[in-house]
This record gives sequence, structure tokens and C-alpha cells, in this order.
Amino acid sequence: MKAFNDLADFAREDIASLIELATRLDHSPEPEALRGKVLSLLFLSPSLRTLASFQAAMVRLGGGSFVISPDMSIHGLETRPGIVMDGTAAEHIREAVPVIASYGDAIGIRAFAERRSLEADLAETEFSALTKLANKPYINMESAMNHPCQSLADWKTMDDLGIPASGGKFVLSWAYHPKALPLAVPSATVHMAAMRGMDVTVLRPEGFELPDSIMDKARSAAAASGGSVTETDDRQAAMQDAHVIYAKSWSSTKHYGDRAGDEALRRGLDNWCVDEPWFEAARDDCRFMHCLPVRRGVVVSEAVLDGPRSVVIHEARNRMLAQMAVLHQMLGGSK
Ligand code: CP
Repeated sequence: MKAFNDLADFAREDIASLIELATRLDHSPEPEALRGKVLSLLFLSPSLRTLASFQAAMVRLGGGSFVISPDMSIHGLETRPGIVMDGTAAEHIREAVPVIASYGDAIGIRAFAERRSLEADLAETEFSALTKLANKPYINMESAMNHPCQSLADWKTMDDLGIPASGGKFVLSWAYHPKALPLAVPSATVHMAAMRGMDVTVLRPEGFELPDSIMDKARSAAAASGGSVTETDDRQAAMQDAHVIYAKSWSSTKHYGDRAGDEALRRGLDNWCVDEPWFEAARDDCRFMHCLPVRRGVVVSEAVLDGPRSVVIHEARNRMLAQMAVLHQMLGGSK
């Protein structure tokens, strides 16, 4: 495996194999599988789970890793192309990335959306430039429009819990948040659930529609897997017979990169906080999923988050297992 960048680059059987490997590594550890291998981890955006789970994954497989991020005591990093570096930044990403990559056998990169241009973010302009500089096998640890490690872990979580693929009803719901957040998780999630063969409903208020290209990609995946993808702002209809509600806040696509416009649109939407009444029309065993971090009492009520529906800790642990499977295949541990 040369890259783990997008679940769409893999067949469903490949994803099933990765999940099987993740489960096997959980039950039958292979502490020597990646002995002597090094994973470089470049975090240009903040993290808790991704940072910790990749390091833990490498240790559990017998390898090592190192982390570089701008808030460490490194030289100030310049990312803009074609710039005269007469300001505070002392090092350009054009040198920093190949140097970091040269110390490892593969590199993980996290770079959230710049959110200046929706077109540029949809084209993954910044992330693909970074991966080209690395010239090593790479893992997308969250880019402008994708978070494949989260999606693989979420797919595994639903398999673990016996949530049906075919005929399973998956609601991806926008939730209130005081700030405009990236589109990476909702974009990856709608595609993942569609690829898994589920009937997916994107529940969101007006102005928070996912981009057409993201919905088209999810619909193509659904067509291939026997699932479906619809979009609505009708909460009651969306939640009818749902197996899963996956909550996430994201930026307004109508006011992308326009902070004031986005803020004006989200004002008054603070009732989009997932709470027990949301589940009235859902199946009794409907699960609550979220990638974390999550704001309690803002995105989801404490009662739901701490209650039996919530599988957020299961999802987070599966990040480590899913990434162990990816690393095992990428770095040569697979038999
Ligand atoms: N879900 C997720 O990627 O968490 P972090 O941002 O903490 O890595």
C-alpha cells in the first residue's frame, strides 16, 4: 500500500480485509511486525486521538514514530508558495516535509482545510502538494475534505456492534457549534456509510448542504453497494427507524470562508443539539456516533453522550486498531 488517502481508492473487499486485520491484531498482537520501522507524523493542525493512536499503533507493532507540529520548539514554518521569507518564519515546508519524510519509512500528514476557497479545498490543493513533497508512502490523518482513518474506524465500530450494512439506516446530522468547522469528517462519513451499503440521510439546516461533488461521490458509492443517499432538513423524517445518528458540525457551504455570513446563518440554530427527544422515531437501539472531540451540551446532550446509545469511546479505540491494520499493510508486516 503506497497511500491511505481515501476509502474510495479501495474496493469493499479491501476495507473488509483491513477491518479483519484490525480485529486480528486486537486479539492476537504482533509486537514484532514492524520492528525497525519508523513513522513520521506531521501535524499542521491540532489533535488528541490521531496523535496518540498513531504513536500507540506503532509501539504495539514494534516500530517507532516521531511527531513534528508547529507548536513544538521548531523553526517557524512557512507554507505559502513563492514567498520571500523576510518575515518571522525561518523554514519553508518545501524543505521541512522532505526532511521529515526522509527520517521515516512512511509519513502521516494532518492539514485541515484553509477555508479560503471551497474549490481549492475540494481539490485538496494543499494536502496533495504536501504529499508530493514527502515522496514516501503516506497516510491522510485529516485533510481538507477527508478523514479516512476515522471512517475506517467508524466502519469497524458498526461491524463490531452488528449494525447492518444492507438495510441499515444511517443519519449524518449537522449539529450546532459556535465556530465554523471543516467539512472533512462529514464528507468522509457520508461516503463511508454509502460505501458500506447503508441508506444514508444527511440531515442539515438550510445553508449547510454538503457540496454537490461530495454528495455525488457518496451517491456513486451507494449505487455500487446497494445503498442510498438523501438529504433533508426534516428531523422527524430523517430519524424514522434510524440505526445510527452520527453528529457533526460543519461550515456553511453557502458562506464558505465568510466568517460573518456563516455566523449569521448558524445563529439561532442552537436547538441542533442531539438530545433524547431526537430518538422518538428511531429504533430503540439507535446508536449515537461522533468522531470527537465534542462539546457537551452544545453538539449533544450529556444524557445522550453518557448514555447507552453512545459509542464514541469504542470509535476512538478503533482508531488505533484500524491504523494498526493500515500500518501493517503499508510497512510490510502483512503476511
Ligand atoms: N477524531 C479525531 O480525529 O480526533 P483528533 O482531532 O483528536 O485527532
